[in-house]
Amino acid sequence: MEEIKKKRIFSGIQPTNVPHLGNYLGALQNWVKLQDEYDCAYSIVDLHSITVRQDPARLRRQTAESYALLIAMGIDPEKSIVFVQGHNPAHAQLSWILSCYTQFGELSRMTQFKDKSQKHPENINAGLFTYPVLMAADILLYQADCVPVGIDQKQHLELTRNIADRFNNLYGETFTVPEPYIVKSVAKIASLADPTKKMSKSDDNPNATIFVLDDRDTIMRKFKRAVTDSGCEVRRGEGKEGVENLMSIYAAVTERSFEDIEREFEGKGYGDFKTAVGEAVADSLAPMQERYKQIIADKSYLEKCMKEGAEKAYKASRKTLQKVSKKVGFIVL
Ligand code: TYM
Repeated sequence: MEEIKKKRIFSGIQPTNVPHLGNYLGALQNWVKLQDEYDCAYSIVDLHSITVRQDPARLRRQTAESYALLIAMGIDPEKSIVFVQGHNPAHAQLSWILSCYTQFGELSRMTQFKDKSQKHPENINAGLFTYPVLMAADILLYQADCVPVGIDQKQHLELTRNIADRFNNLYGETFTVPEPYIVKSVAKIASLADPTKKMSKSDDNPNATIFVLDDRDTIMRKFKRAVTDSGCEVRRGEGKEGVENLMSIYAAVTERSFEDIEREFEGKGYGDFKTAVGEAVADSLAPMQERYKQIIADKSYLEKCMKEGAEKAYKASRKTLQKVSKKVGFIVL
């Protein structure tokens, strides 16, 4: 019987800190689920992370930790390609080629570039500007059909689609044009300290972000301090962004509907609700935290997985790079 080829998924995460609950609910949790149905390639994008200044020893450590966390979450290195971006040189090569097919104006419109250059005015480097081209290269190298991300990456994905279309129009079918895969209810988990801002790894307020390796006490404390409003009803509505954010988190980790949650907390106050959310989050992260401790302690296993992941990534991307190189007029040996 002829085997049906599975569709390809690609996604990436920066190793700039321990992933937070927004990364987990908005993206990583889906990465795990999608493994059965799709052919998945997942990358720790170390090249992207140096667009902002990093401490080298810390970056090395966090790259290994992020890799171990993906496995602890349930990403199976036998089933999926799990690799560190810098271990496959094809990403930087394709990124250079694609940068010659991307307009200065297009990159100038990227909101992440504008935000980050405002945040780091002392270091507005060329890499920060061309960051989305490297991201396009990541995705297009593997001919990805679908890219699971949070809403903050949507603009970069639209650019990726434009670059792929442009190249295909010039040289004939070369790249699969990828679709974003965004789960609406968790596409943008907000900061616990300011529900108008997205949860982020680099927030100055230590109570704003839940990291997936936070212990139970820390998680409970942060949820208890979460900013809500002056009311007391657990429901969605105007001016209730803080409560709605907590409801999204609770709904995602308990797999319950908003209506169900409203019913459960009818007549109860924010205190009870925050405790319930904290406990549900701590419970859902606990098994992964246990597995993580074992994996991070086994250096030789981690190194073996990284090496095999790098080889698989190289093999899966070589054909695309050769095809592109030929099309633009390079001699391919
Ligand atoms: P990064 O490392 O900032 O985030 C990893 C993933 O987490 C999602 N995310 C969120 N989702 C919901 N709520 C939030 N508050 C939240 N914060 C982050 C992000 O959307 C992302 O899916 N440029 C990318 C990494 C990357 C990539 C790629 C992604 C590089 N190459 C190719 C997909 C495909 C980034 O910085 O993600």
